[in-house]
Amino acid sequence: MEKKLQRINLQNIPNHIAIIMDGNGRWAKSKGMQRIFGHRNALTAIRETADTASDLGVKFLTLYAFSTENWNRPKLEVDALMSLLVTTLKKELPEFQRKNVRINAIGNLSSLPKNAQKVLANVIDATKNNTKITLSFALSYGSREEIVNAIKNISKKVVNNEIKIENINDKIINNHLYTFNLPDVDLMIRTSGEQRISNFLLWQIAYAELYFTDVLWPDYRKKHLYDAIIDYQNRERRFGKTSEQIETNE
Ligand code: IPE
Ligand code: IPE
Ligand code: MG
Repeated sequence: MEKKLQRINLQNIPNHIAIIMDGNGRWAKSKGMQRIFGHRNALTAIRETADTASDLGVKFLTLYAFSTENWNRPKLEVDALMSLLVTTLKKELPEFQRKNVRINAIGNLSSLPKNAQKVLANVIDATKNNTKITLSFALSYGSREEIVNAIKNISKKVVNNEIKIENINDKIINNHLYTFNLPDVDLMIRTSGEQRISNFLLWQIAYAELYFTDVLWPDYRKKHLYDAIIDYQNRERRFGKTSEQIETNE
């Protein structure tokens, strides 16, 4: 493991990592257990990933925990996920404080159960001055819903003469997304072997590097994040320019 860490260039750590934490259900099934068992075992992976990211100097970590489409799952599973969210946030608050973690949430939060909204608001407020890393949970999050919501809010401001149509630009759109206080994603990781985006951060991943791994989320550990970052560091991010321009810093 130390060997792996030595291969990481600490001067080129992705500033914002987003993770589609997938495969809890299959992990549980492979052990002859109910899907919920997989969700419960996702917590160790979340803790270890957040700690590792923070130690490496990642400033923003965004985790896809529940999508707008996940509301269509069986009620039993949805209820279990919501109660897991509430108990975990309550339990982890002292740890967030000790580790200087700022908690943030993105998504259509008003659709969450009232007690989840309350606990979430409390944890966000209690950690708002923490500075080591911003850990964002995407909850009832869907990128299309986010964009629709942004368009509605921008349109209202146009109607009220607060924004001129000709002034609408990237920045204004950014400022109306749930991620208004987060930078663009540098590295997006998806576990469990699926290679799709599933309605996550469509706008924000415009130039993100994508990394897919077969590891099921409950098995995700420090070494897996190291692997993803090493892979990321071996890529050339050109942002539309040529390789020569990047090399000569033009
Ligand atoms: C990801 O694991 C967690 C959530 C979507 C809440 P899944 O529950 O999607 O697990 P699989 O994909 O069915 O294995
Ligand atoms: C995406 O996983 C959502 C989360 C990880 C929270 P899903 O398991 O819901 O995605 P699909 O249905 O396989 O695309
Ligand atoms: Mg899944």
